Amino acid sequence: MEKRIVCLAGDGIGPEVMESAKRVLQLVGRLYGHKFHLQDERFGGAAIDECGQPLPARTLAACLASDAVLLGAVGGPRWDEAPERPEKGLLALRKSLGLYANVRPVEVDKAVAHLSPLKSEVASEVQFVVVRELTGGIYFSFPKERTAEQATDTLTYTRREIERIVEYAFQLAKTRRKKVTSIDKANVLESSKLWREIAKEVAVRYPDVELEHILVDAAAMEMIRNPGRFDVIVTENLFGDILSDEASVLAGSLGMLPSASHSENGLSLYEPIHGSAPDIAGKNKANPIAMIRSVAMMLEQSFELRKEAKAIEEAIAAVLKVGRFTGDLGGKETTSSFTDYVLRAMEEQVLVGRGKA
Ligand code: NAD
Ligand code: IPM
Ligand code: MN
Repeated sequence: MEKRIVCLAGDGIGPEVMESAKRVLQLVGRLYGHKFHLQDERFGGAAIDECGQPLPARTLAACLASDAVLLGAVGGPRWDEAPERPEKGLLALRKSLGLYANVRPVEVDKAVAHLSPLKSEVASEVQFVVVRELTGGIYFSFPKERTAEQATDTLTYTRREIERIVEYAFQLAKTRRKKVTSIDKANVLESSKLWREIAKEVAVRYPDVELEHILVDAAAMEMIRNPGRFDVIVTENLFGDILSDEASVLAGSLGMLPSASHSENGLSLYEPIHGSAPDIAGKNKANPIAMIRSVAMMLEQSFELRKEAKAIEEAIAAVLKVGRFTGDLGGKETTSSFTDYVLRAMEEQVLVGRGKA
């Protein structure tokens, strides 16, 4: 298989974890006979520094012409007061590529269940996915205004936007434990009232999938108290952002969770859910698992390379199993040494496989 992948390393730990992703992809190519053309493009604060804007036209054009996009992270204190922040480029990219469905799987690896602040028997039951609406809601609605005395953000959702993300969640639930939890604030927000009504309408088309509704405040509590009850969570943009960072604690660290963002036209982007982690940037300390898992999601979901994706997941599990962790999980490994072990585990799997054949 031959694919063109645009790599947007971005800022902070972005370039460090992107390096791990590229090394993994190059090895997958070598071990399984694929050609991945990796094309670096400027994005985020790095692009602001070079050409004054976070999403240069060239970068957007390259993404649109690619088979898939990989993204590290953007942002950092250097650009906090800039006229255009790096985060604006990320939002513009998501909107321009039509990436409405952000899928954030939350699973707790057996080897790290004891590192979760939850009891390990509760943590090891965690197996859900957050389906976050990514191109609407308060992030994108107008008017957005600020004066010295007043600031306004607007939260609008259309029927079409709600319907397509809820449909996405039901389709996904059909392939899993057949339960959708729709999270809203329907006791207060008009947009949530419409969201809940449409979720009920969509559910009628999926009689074999159970639908429950939970208010977002209670859901935040349930995610810690009884996370095993969730299978597919579907929620609006801002709630999904907050709840998925909360969910990462179940898995032991924000550095563990990958994501996929899908559009209607087949192009997808893959990125860790974490940010640029300015506090540890440039120190070779970042946990590369979220980024490497994003590569596995890309191989499976964009290219249908299931065997290759599984090999990556198994290699990560094998390294964790022997107690090799980065600092966020209480270990001594660096970004690069952890990646070295993952690469070695992947090579060993193939050698063992050949030995058996
Ligand atoms: P953050 O996710 O960057 O970091 C939060 C905490 O988690 C920090 O202590 C950090 O060290 C730790 N952490 C995050 N990823 C880690 C990893 N892979 N390994 C080990 N530890 C990790 O969130 P923040 O500090 O609130 O934001 C920093 C910047 O990142 C901001 O500019 C923010 O807007 C941006 N951001 C970008 C994205 C993105 O690019 N998708 C996502 C979230 C935040
Ligand atoms: C994320 C981030 C972004 C978001 C920011 C950086 C715009 O927090 O990808 O989760 O809020 O979507
Ligand atoms: Mn976030």
